[in-house]
Amino acid sequence: MADFVNKVVIVTGASSGIGAGTAEFLAKQGAWLVLVGRNEENLKSVAAKCPPTHGAPQPLQIVADVTIEADAKRIIDTTIEKFQKLNVLVNNAGILKRGTIETSTLEDYDTVMNVNVRSIFHLTQLAVPHLIATKGNVVNVSSVNGMRSFPGVLAYNMSKAALDQLTQCVALELADRGIRVNSVNPGVIVTNIHKRDGMDEAAYAAFLEHSKSTHALGRAGNTIEVAESIAFLASERASFITGAILPVDGGRHSMCPR
Ligand code: NAI
Repeated sequence: MADFVNKVVIVTGASSGIGAGTAEFLAKQGAWLVLVGRNEENLKSVAAKCPPTHGAPQPLQIVADVTIEADAKRIIDTTIEKFQKLNVLVNNAGILKRGTIETSTLEDYDTVMNVNVRSIFHLTQLAVPHLIATKGNVVNVSSVNGMRSFPGVLAYNMSKAALDQLTQCVALELADRGIRVNSVNPGVIVTNIHKRDGMDEAAYAAFLEHSKSTHALGRAGNTIEVAESIAFLASERASFITGAILPVDGGRHSMCPR
């Protein structure tokens, strides 16, 4: 497959996990990649795993924090300066913070909302004029937590529910300009996100074991399984799909305890 030949694709949070897996997957399909992350070294090592194919240039690496307004502007401006167009924006950067209504601080709430919602609102806003020019599309990386309620990760759940509204509203607002906006909503995927939030190795191993019963397919997922769905929604093969909230969660969204 070469679905992304001559297509300029920005992937935020590309320096690890789902973002890195998506970058590697899209590189094989000819994408002209723009890799955005905060850690220059990690970004470099991901870029090294994304050798250009089908005549694409080397991936453009942009060290940026998506919550900083000037950085968001620089992401879009640098992309246009370098490649003169933008076809796809993959809003993948996100963070998880555990906490309930009793234990979350307002600072935790603001941090989660700023990364998982506000930065995506802003970056999408900046990208829209360029996406109109190419009839491009946006794929947001949400979560099954946006679709279902799980105790103990309150701000995170709220942020992903807000993101799902953003996806659906913006899809409707931009449909007449030929822009599609969709999301993937993963279940538990093996990355560093939970450990970054303070889970130690033993707790993470127990969490993955528990995931066998919380996902109908009996296991956690891997980054390539999410990358495949992101690539599908971003490609012309999904040309009649917009406003979709696509669970990539081994059936978790359909489950009810019994
Ligand atoms: P990860 O922690 O490996 O990746 C997140 C990436 O976002 C990191 O590279 C991180 O540096 C970047 N990031 C965070 N804040 C940023 C900022 N202010 N500016 C720029 N980059 C920033 O974790 P993972 O799992 O790959 O997460 C990717 C997305 O997938 C997130 O939106 C997450 O909520 C979502 N997700 C992950 C699930 C999982 O179980 N791993 C399940 C459902 C959704």
